[in-house]
Parts: sequence; structure tokens; C-alpha cells
Amino acid sequence: MRFFSITAAAILAAASSAQASQYLVRNWCDKDMFLTFANSTTTTTDLVLPAKLAFLSPIAGEGNSVGVANQPGQYWNALGWKAVFGFTSKDGSLWWSLSDLVGDPIAPGTVNVTSSGTREDVCEHATDYMGGVHGCADNGVTLTFNLCSQNA
Ligand SMILES: *[C@@H]1O[C@H](CO)[C@@H](O)[C@H](O)[C@H]1NC(C)=O
Ligand SMILES: *[C@@H]1O[C@H](CO)[C@@H](O)[C@H](O)[C@H]1NC(C)=O
Repeated sequence: MRFFSITAAAILAAASSAQASQYLVRNWCDKDMFLTFANSTTTTTDLVLPAKLAFLSPIAGEGNSVGVANQPGQYWNALGWKAVFGFTSKDGSLWWSLSDLVGDPIAPGTVNVTSSGTREDVCEHATDYMGGVHGCADNGVTLTFNLCSQNA
């Protein structure tokens, strides 16, 4: 995984003209965060996303999730606090959700997920963990997951 400054990652995301959708995770927090990636075939546990850095990745396949914890060892721990950003690309549609489990690892900070593509907010947005499932056409969408966001 390659990390970029938060600004550089946003510029790269906007420059991508491919039809494929992508997601961007930006760690605005003052501390490192621990990310766990899971789908039906692969899991990667506790990858460090350093403070003030970001990464960009394509969206492909079903049942993908990026879990965020504020310490290592929390994601697979039943009592660990985690935020879970889930997304699926299937039959030309893109679906995503944001939830937390056990507790909010970003508190007292806030999170959001925003979307852009053919227009701003093309796949809706969330500023808390209770927005349920959002969907749109899977057409060059960028979903941005902001940790320690400044919500509008
Ligand atoms: C699971 O994620 C890995 C790593 O991103 C990816 O290479 C693989 O294609 C994904 N599997 C499915 C079934 O989407
Ligand atoms: C989401 O967070 C980013 C980064 O702090 C902020 O610029 C943006 O306005 C926020 N969006 C919403 C809808 O709150």
C-alpha cells in the first residue's frame, strides 16, 4: 500500500478518469490508526495508516470492509472498538455503509463518508454511523472516508 499526503491523495482521486470506482481513506487524526481489510478471500489486520496520511484503492467485488481501530489488536477482539466502512460492487451498482461496533474508535472526533463522481454527493454521504446502506450506479465514483473529519 502506498500512502500519500491527504491533499495529494485527493488530487490523485479527482484526476482519475477511469470508470472504475475507488475509495480514499484520509487520516486527519493526530495519531496513527490501525486498519483491517477483509473480504471473502483476503484479510489484512492492523495495517498502520499514519496520522495525516491517506491512501487510494480501487473498488472491486463484493463484501469488502475496512475496519478502523485506534490501537492494534482491537478489530478481531469482541470487545474492541471499531468503525467499519463496507462496500460492494455488483451488477453495475455500488453499495456502501458506515457503522461502528462496540464503541466509536474516533470519539470524541468525528467521521464522515462523502461521494463524488458524475456529480458531488452522487452516492450520498454519512456524518455518523447510523445511515444504513447507500447505493448508486457504479460509474467512476470516489468514496472518501474521513477519520477525524470536520463535518459540515
Ligand atoms: C479481496 O481483496 C483483495 C485485496 O484487495 C483483492 O485482490 C481480491 O480480489 C478481493 N476478493 C474479492 C472476492 O473481491
Ligand atoms: C467530511 O470531512 C471533510 C474533512 O474534514 C470535510 O472537508 C467535509 O466538509 C466533511 N463533509 C461533510 C458532509 O460533513
